[in-house]
Amino acid sequence: MDVLIADQDLVTELLPMSEAVAVMRDALGRLNDPDTMLPLRNVLALPGGERAFSLMPSYLGGLGTLGVKIITAFPANFGGEYDTHQGVVLVFDDDHGRLRAIVDATAITAIRTAAVSGVATDLLAAPGAGDLALIGAGTQAHTHLAAMASVRPLRRVRVFSLPAGSAEEFARREERLTGLTIEVADSAQEAVRGADIVCTVTTATEPVVSGDWLAPGAHVNAVGAYTPTTRELDTRAVARSRLYVDRREATLSEAGEFLLARAEGAIDDDHIVGEIGEVLNGVAPGRGSADEITLFKSLGLAVEDLAAARHVLDRARERGAGVWLEIGGRHFGSTAGA
Ligand SMILES: NC(=O)c1ccc[n+]([C@@H]2O[C@H](COP(=O)([O-])OP(=O)(O)OC[C@H]3O[C@@H](n4cnc5c(N)ncnc54)[C@H](O)[C@@H]3O)[C@@H](O)[C@H]2O)c1
Repeated sequence: MDVLIADQDLVTELLPMSEAVAVMRDALGRLNDPDTMLPLRNVLALPGGERAFSLMPSYLGGLGTLGVKIITAFPANFGGEYDTHQGVVLVFDDDHGRLRAIVDATAITAIRTAAVSGVATDLLAAPGAGDLALIGAGTQAHTHLAAMASVRPLRRVRVFSLPAGSAEEFARREERLTGLTIEVADSAQEAVRGADIVCTVTTATEPVVSGDWLAPGAHVNAVGAYTPTTRELDTRAVARSRLYVDRREATLSEAGEFLLARAEGAIDDDHIVGEIGEVLNGVAPGRGSADEITLFKSLGLAVEDLAAARHVLDRARERGAGVWLEIGGRHFGSTAGA
């Protein structure tokens, strides 16, 4: 039996951003299907508090596939040789439970996360939005720039990041890659001023953006924080916004932006307007007025990884691309002595 091994280059080739946005739109729309299974992820917070090891299983019956992402997040990797996220997505079929693909999770995570923000932005940002602020200048900033550009024509891009110098390096590299002009802001407040799309994509654990700085009508994707005690946005930002999430259950268990604002008494559970998948399916309303601020709190879901990796598998099969290995399959021992 052949199993695909897909490295970063193959994932990048087979999952371009515009296709990734469509794949995420489809996956999020399946979230509340009866044959979708998505337990909360299992996160081991390693000693010291900063490093995490996560196990993220899911089943997408509609696509006949199940799988798991196994991934580490080591923020101190930033600026060095290795990406902050390392791991694999394992894809199985639901005919015989066979392993079908082992896919690089650094690339899948980088692309699918930004593509999901792309779906949210396309649904919730003002139709004419195109003034983008990126807070953070790492892997997610890179893919979020591509994702935002794929759903709205960008007329201005500003970036702010710590430590000093990291945003400058990012801006010059992305200018070469995209042909866009990228301004380096001196502060997060300066980056956000007047922006109508804001993406927070940092490993910060304390707020980097205050609600007082956000322009009326802005859309915010809060992507970086994923534990109950960490956040990139302050309480004011969450309370001022119309809040959308990827998954309610995960938000109530993992999202510091939501949980800390609730603990401070600024919001309650009804503050969540809906999941992005519910907006896609017409179950939850989208933006209500031109002036309101919409906020998408992203935590990242295993079905996103599974759908993205499954897409890579399908494309690789169609194109005869990638490395294929014989792993598993027939009855063990059936050919012994033959
Ligand atoms: N929601 C999701 O689905 C999802 C998926 C992947 C990653 N993430 C999270 O997003 C965050 C970014 O991921 P990445 O792969 O881009 O990481 P990265 O290490 O490549 O980049 C992190 C960036 O944050 C910047 N930064 C750190 N602290 C800052 C601060 N206080 N102010 C301004 N900038 C600061 C760093 O300089 C760097 O530019 C991580 O916390 C990661 O775990 C979330």
